[in-house]
Amino acid sequence: MGSMYDKLEDNVHGRIADELSSRQGYGKSGLRTLICWIALLLSLLLCLSVGFICHGLMGLQSHGLGQVEQRLVCYYASDGTYNLSLLDVPGDLCTHINIGPASLDNATIVLPKSLIQVLQYDSRSYRTAHPQVHLLLWIGGADSGRQFARMVVNHAMRKVFLRSLRQIMRTYPSLDGIDLDWEFPSAYDRERMHLSQLLHEIRMEWQREKRTNDILSLAVAAPEGIALYAYDIRELNLYADYVNLMAYDFHFYRKDMPFTGLNAPLYARAQERSLMGTFNINYTVQWWLRSGLEPHRLVVGLPTYGHSFTLVNPLNQRIGAPASAYGKCGQLGFTTLSETCECASKYYKPSLHYDAGTCSPYLAALQEWISYENQTSIACKANYVKSLNLGGVMVFSLNTDDLRNVCGYMPNTQKKLQNQKPVFPLTQAIKDILRESL
Ligand SMILES: *[C@@H]1O[C@H](CO)[C@@H](O)[C@H](O)[C@H]1NC(C)=O
Ligand SMILES: *[C@@H]1O[C@H](CO)[C@@H](O)[C@H](O)[C@H]1NC(C)=O
Ligand SMILES: *[C@@H]1O[C@H](CO)[C@@H](O)[C@H](O)[C@H]1NC(C)=O
Ligand SMILES: *[C@@H]1O[C@H](CO)[C@@H](O)[C@H](O)[C@H]1NC(C)=O
Repeated sequence: MGSMYDKLEDNVHGRIADELSSRQGYGKSGLRTLICWIALLLSLLLCLSVGFICHGLMGLQSHGLGQVEQRLVCYYASDGTYNLSLLDVPGDLCTHINIGPASLDNATIVLPKSLIQVLQYDSRSYRTAHPQVHLLLWIGGADSGRQFARMVVNHAMRKVFLRSLRQIMRTYPSLDGIDLDWEFPSAYDRERMHLSQLLHEIRMEWQREKRTNDILSLAVAAPEGIALYAYDIRELNLYADYVNLMAYDFHFYRKDMPFTGLNAPLYARAQERSLMGTFNINYTVQWWLRSGLEPHRLVVGLPTYGHSFTLVNPLNQRIGAPASAYGKCGQLGFTTLSETCECASKYYKPSLHYDAGTCSPYLAALQEWISYENQTSIACKANYVKSLNLGGVMVFSLNTDDLRNVCGYMPNTQKKLQNQKPVFPLTQAIKDILRESL
């Protein structure tokens, strides 16, 4: 397949060069900066002649040059969920905001009414007020599997998609990229190959359209059992600026797995063996790296929401205790952080636990059991990402953070509740970790 992509090479390299040069912190002193620039230039020249090998080299370069600004990619649902307005998201919080979700119908991108409103008005104002924040259209989501499969199936259908993408990018110039959230390419019908072809064709199209700075990202599955069949990871290196690893939902209530469990454990717990030992952030991150994804393209997704369960026996509150249903808190077992704290406060003395080994809090109150995140746990996980010098952290989602400060993690500045601006204690905690100097 190599030759097929040759034309694209220059473009991809150009993009990497731009990306590198826009990053900060190569060195504080003038001399160091100069040396770095010369090294960078030489390696770039080398790269252009060496071809594919170059991507690995570029990865090394960006790391060798010290502190790289790590992305904080935030998902924003425009469907009025918890009434969060884009304009209430502080401009210094996220480096990228994925706005959506847009869906697919017969290969054409469909924007719900509320999303059109946001793209027409809010994202334009946001772009003006905060030009440094990248705004991306989030396409797909949890139920998008079949529509994506149908769209990628042949060249004609992909062309329909590309045409609708072109039209949308022209209509909404405040967008500077897209995030494809196909959950998930299957092992059948060569979906993995078709996904690579789609990514290739998007890049070609953007080259023709002189949109070489536009960002192409993918939301990808964390579990090895899905990712192994869904993605050709080396091709992702060629075409995706970065991937958003959905490193959550490792455990939630299911009829065929009726036990409590942690949404996003950082590591395996001591008693977890074989397959169970793979359902955690560290294992999946290491798997993706081992499988060849360039570290600077790996953006690790962390949840702001939690999962609730109904305990079979209120006296057995352990992780892995028998559960009989979703919890009462939240909706269908999903709880925003505000809902978690609000719901817990209705019980007499809920018991709060912290599993230090996995950086995960959980709480139990009578039959209710919730795995959630607080500032301690999310900072712990963000520190892990930072220490590996990966591409950054993704947050799903802004809408499910403790917008109303119910948990009280943020100092209360305003007295009247109805006038309060939403707050983002978890996203803020991640930002503080990523921006703290090493
Ligand atoms: C969102 O706002 C509408 C009207 O402004 C209100 O009726 C509704 O209760 C709000 N929803 C939430 C979840 O706060
Ligand atoms: C889907 O799109 C294709 C290509 O544009 C068209 O030929 C076909 O009729 C459409 N099918 C439906 C069900 O709309
Ligand atoms: C993290 O994952 C790697 C690879 O699977 C493993 O070798 C390492 O022991 C894990 N770290 C912890 C603390 O579990
Ligand atoms: C997070 O939860 C644990 C367990 O309840 C607690 O020890 C810790 O203080 C909490 N962190 C914050 C910032 O509230």
